[in-house]
Amino acid sequence: MLTFPLADNCQQVVGVDISSEQIALAEAHASKDNIRYHLADVTKLLQDPAFPTIAPQGGFDKINLYFSFQYFDTQTKGKAALKAMLHFLKEDGILLLGDVPEQKYFNTFYPTLKSKIKYHLKRLIQQDDMGKFWNEKTLKQIAHSLGAQIERIEQPAHLPYADYRCDYLIRKAPI
Ligand SMILES: C[S@@+](CC[C@H](N)C(=O)[O-])C[C@H]1O[C@@H](n2cnc3c(N)ncnc32)[C@H](O)[C@@H]1O
Repeated sequence: MLTFPLADNCQQVVGVDISSEQIALAEAHASKDNIRYHLADVTKLLQDPAFPTIAPQGGFDKINLYFSFQYFDTQTKGKAALKAMLHFLKEDGILLLGDVPEQKYFNTFYPTLKSKIKYHLKRLIQQDDMGKFWNEKTLKQIAHSLGAQIERIEQPAHLPYADYRCDYLIRKAPI
């Protein structure tokens, strides 16, 4: 959904996913000459011997992790993912973390005690599809600990998930 339209405005696009099914679907339905798909766990990208040969020398101009950061559902995983993406980002590049569920809207999203218990139980048995609701302060601490600048962006109200998700722009260089 994202790599295909982006490829019209980019020299080269690399799509990374941990799911071999998603990679196969993308390869079958969203292929273009300047798109390459790569099967990998983003949190382990720094240990992946193939990725440096795929990533452009000097890093990507832009990295987009959209509607996915909730699956990095511990601080350790979130930090590992950010560290890997920053490593492969150009010095003056921009990383977009899009559609991150916000901890402060957890009660809006799960208004009843029953819905909250259901969420936590599903997470306990690893059957949860919502992932982690990130706290802005925690995310900022992680980014700063990696030497990055981070800016929270409120979504325009007409977007479907604007009532409980937001975006972050992350840069290596000072804003
Ligand atoms: C909700 S989809 C969003 C896909 C796309 N960004 C979009 O907005 O349409 C989340 C994707 O993240 C992938 N994913 C989850 N954990 C991952 C990880 N550790 N490394 C790479 N991909 C991961 C899933 O397989 C899934 O395809």
